[in-house]
Amino acid sequence: MKSTGRCRAHTNIALIKYWGKRNEELFLPMNSSLSLTLDAFYTDTEVVLDDDLDSDEFYLDNTKQGDKETQKITEFLNLFRNLANIETKACVKSYNHVPTAAGLASSASAFSALAGAMNQAVGLNLDLKTLSTFARQGSGSATRSVYGGFVEWSMGEDDKSSTSHAVPVDDAKWDIGMVVIAVNTGRKKLSSRVGMKQTIETSPFYSSWVETATSDLTKMKEAIKGHDFITLGEITESNGMKMHATMLGAFPPISYWEPDSVKAIQKVKEIRETGIPCYVTMDAGPNVKVLCQQSDMKKIEELLLEDFNREQIIPSTVGEGIKLLNASE
Ligand code: PMV
Repeated sequence: MKSTGRCRAHTNIALIKYWGKRNEELFLPMNSSLSLTLDAFYTDTEVVLDDDLDSDEFYLDNTKQGDKETQKITEFLNLFRNLANIETKACVKSYNHVPTAAGLASSASAFSALAGAMNQAVGLNLDLKTLSTFARQGSGSATRSVYGGFVEWSMGEDDKSSTSHAVPVDDAKWDIGMVVIAVNTGRKKLSSRVGMKQTIETSPFYSSWVETATSDLTKMKEAIKGHDFITLGEITESNGMKMHATMLGAFPPISYWEPDSVKAIQKVKEIRETGIPCYVTMDAGPNVKVLCQQSDMKKIEELLLEDFNREQIIPSTVGEGIKLLNASE
């Protein structure tokens, strides 16, 4: 017997960052975070549960993946199989409309789409909140991709897995956009998992990062409520920079930046000085994301083209939460 699930999930970019786990096994974060889901980057995933398979198979963009990658998928699917009390193996096919591992959070859309597709294939009918706790255990940032717009990942209590989940904050349909400046879309050398661990263990700045991330979140939610774009942008830029500062304080120091990252940050500052509100944030990679108002996006693109190539500039509007796909999609 075969049963199939298909799901699309969009990626998200954190405006208040998650950088570090209090429980590594359960992917429980040190602080709550908040993100914007993006329309331009997504993953489509199909899961076929098939009694005839002896082991799980995993294809990414039509290429069969090796044992290490497949093992990670198996462990993730086991969360669902254990709950449903089944052992059926699966063939997973994922298509990434995101440059993989470029700091554009491909793992966020990947595990959120996989969670949605597996939920459908197994017929568990888990609600989105519960699904986000499953997505979390594939990749922390995936927790937030189950919803669209502005999404909080609530850190939860103690070691209680079910309390650490996504919460939709606002649909962000009030002139919000983001422009990605793709500085380098190659694979990153240091995974976020290793980078976070090294930062927690060695950076003297880490505890103050966690404290201020918590107050930043409170202020950001107020700004979202009041549709106050300037405050939203200022907190976004400050919070992202503080995260990177904790990494610089690690031993050995961590930096995901490249010369063109700095060039992009300076360019955005210049654009801001012309009176267009726009603010940068960066993740575990060299690419720079520019939070802006959708109505300014064209103008910002034009100005960025003075220093970057057309292919490097990817505008995005606000993305929706996960959705199930038909066979034809
Ligand atoms: O969950 P991961 O491994 O994708 O780590 C995400 C870390 C950051 O992108 C830097 C921050 C975040 O909250 O997305």
